[in-house]
Parts: sequence; C-alpha cells; structure tokens
Amino acid sequence: MSPDTHHQSFNPALTQSRAPHVAIVGATGAVGVELLNCLESRDFPVASLKLLASPRSAGQKFSFRGQELVVEALDENSFNGVDLALFSAGSGVSKQYAPIAVKAGAVVVDNSSAFRMDPSVPLVVPEVNAGQIEGHAGIIANPNCVAIIATVPLQALHRRYSIRRIIASSYQAASGAGAAAMEELRASTAAWLEGKAYEPKVMRHPYAFNLFSHDSAVDPATGYNGEETKVVMEMRRILDAPELPVNITCIRVPVLRAHAISLTVEFAEPVTPEAARALLEGAPGVRVVDDVENNHFPMPNEATGQGDVLAGRIRRDISDASGKSLSLFVAGDQLLKGAALNAVQIAERIFRA
Ligand code: A2P
Repeated sequence: MSPDTHHQSFNPALTQSRAPHVAIVGATGAVGVELLNCLESRDFPVASLKLLASPRSAGQKFSFRGQELVVEALDENSFNGVDLALFSAGSGVSKQYAPIAVKAGAVVVDNSSAFRMDPSVPLVVPEVNAGQIEGHAGIIANPNCVAIIATVPLQALHRRYSIRRIIASSYQAASGAGAAAMEELRASTAAWLEGKAYEPKVMRHPYAFNLFSHDSAVDPATGYNGEETKVVMEMRRILDAPELPVNITCIRVPVLRAHAISLTVEFAEPVTPEAARALLEGAPGVRVVDDVENNHFPMPNEATGQGDVLAGRIRRDISDASGKSLSLFVAGDQLLKGAALNAVQIAERIFRA
C-alpha cells in the first residue's frame, strides 16, 4: 500500500518489509504520547506515522525516530492508506471513527471501553489470550488498565490452580483520568505545599494528599461504580471465565502513573505461597518483588516506566482455613502495560510475524 499525501514517510532504511502505515488517534494525550514512545522504543516496524488529535492540537510537533511529526486534526479522511490505527481518544471518538478506519482497511487497536464487551471484538492481554487476536474483524479492544495489570499475574495462577473467586481493591493513579488529571495532581500538590487554595478542575475532589472513590458514576442499583463494573466484566472475558465471582473497590490515589492492586484469590484446590511465587517467577510480563526481610514489595514508583507487572506480598489468606486462598499485591505502569504497551504488543502479534 502506498502512503497517501498526508503521510510523513520515513527513511526506508528505518523500516522493515511489510511495515504498516500507522496512525495514532489521541496522539497528544497521556496514552497517545506513550504509544509513540512504545513504537519507537520497541523498534516497531513503521512505514509512516500519522498523529491525530482534536483541532485544538493541530500543528503541535512531536519527534519520532529523529523526524518531526506534525499533529493533524482527526477527520473522516484521516485513515486513507492507514494499515494500523491505535485509538486513545475516548470512547465517543472510537465509536465514531473506528468503523471508518476499518472501512478504510486499517486494523484498529482501541484503548477505549467502546467495544470491550462486544462479543465480536477480541479483548486481549497478549500474555493471557493472544490467540483471540486471530478472530478479529478489524477491531481489537485493549482492556481496562486494572483488568490488564491484574490478569497478567493472575493468569499464571489460574492456568494451574483454577481461580474460583477474587476480592480486590485498586489504588489507581491520576494517569487513568488523562493528562489533565496528572497536571491537576502536580498543580494541586504544589499549591498545597505553598499553602495556597486550589479549586479542582478535573477531579471532583481535592487530589493533593487525599484519595477518593473512583470518579466514575455509581450505579444506585448495584452500589458499584463504572470502573468497578468494567474491571469485573473484563477480567471475566480475559480469563475466559464468564461466571467468575469478582468483587473490587476502585480508589483513586495521588500517584502519577502506576496502579497498585490488592488481590485475595480463592482457587479450586489448596495452593502454597511458595508454589504461587514459583509460578509467578516464570510468568511472562511479571517480576516478583517479594523481599520480606526488607519489607520491599511492589510500589508504584518502581513500577513506573516498567513493562512488567510487579507482584509480591504473596501469602496465605488467613481468613480461609482450607488453604485454597492467597493474597498478593501487584503494581503496574498504567500508561505502559495498562494501556500503550499492551496495545503495541497486540499490534506486534499482527504486524511482526
Ligand atoms: P487534544 O489534545 O487535541 O484534546 P487524555 O486522555 O490524556 O485526556 O487525551 C485524550 C486525547 O484524545 C488527546 O490527544 C485529545 O486531543 C484527543 N481527543 C479528544 N477529543 C477528541 C476529538 N473529538 N477528536 C480527536 N481527538 C480527540
């Protein structure tokens, strides 16, 4: 396929055969910038790259492999000649433009929640269910960040011991609410330290030195908020366990870009912490951080910038005398494995034979 006139083509020496023409939708956002970084740092084959955002950002410049790229305003013609479209501009934009991209011949990897529960759209964490990619019909959904960060380590345990029930609490970073929320955390913390008043603009509540229930709306019928419901539904889909009982409380904490999750997991049979630790040590995408002597366990600051999910505090659940339950604590970079990296890993399965 030849690039259309809007594409900024690269030096052919930098591209590989069959390298796709790529577009990033939402390129100026917190995830969009990391998509660009992941394509570059993972040496993803790229024939040309188009950066798309709202008209507000048209003309902004980014550098990719030593070349300057200019952001264009997204419109219906943006996908002519595009082979791979990485979407991260919210579900409204995905619902409107992903079908247009598919019609133009692109494979869409969508970071939004728009298609995640559509049974015809695979919901993929490559370490867990890469096989689902094959059945795609143009769109592949990138799961919710908490669902990704939890299922990467849980899959290793599920495969061997079969999970029967999960009870979880999340400690979610600002990045999940976008670049403006990250900026609000920085600005409100600076104001707090200077003793100045700060009126929240993005979050509903003061963010500096505070935490609060996830900002998505609570369904009065269930008492669960939108994020909690997404995590439950998506974990079931990813683990291919449609009836799996899952309960989670999602909390926003004043951390910039890595989520942590406390997990208590019941299995079909007894499992020791030692056996679970050994499985996690061999699991792809997991790094065990479980130094009891030094009280050193997964932390957001150490997960930041890492592709792996950190897992530790692996211990028996003392509330279950059967020996079938364990508790653990995990942390992962929300913008990388929770979003951009997972999306690029999906694309690698398609475009990097
Ligand atoms: P823009 O920066 O021009 O608003 P975040 O999740 O960090 O808030 O980023 C959201 C991303 O989605 C940004 O790149 C933003 O672009 C983009 N975006 C939001 N609304 C639209 C839209 N209607 N059309 C195209 N891109 C959009």
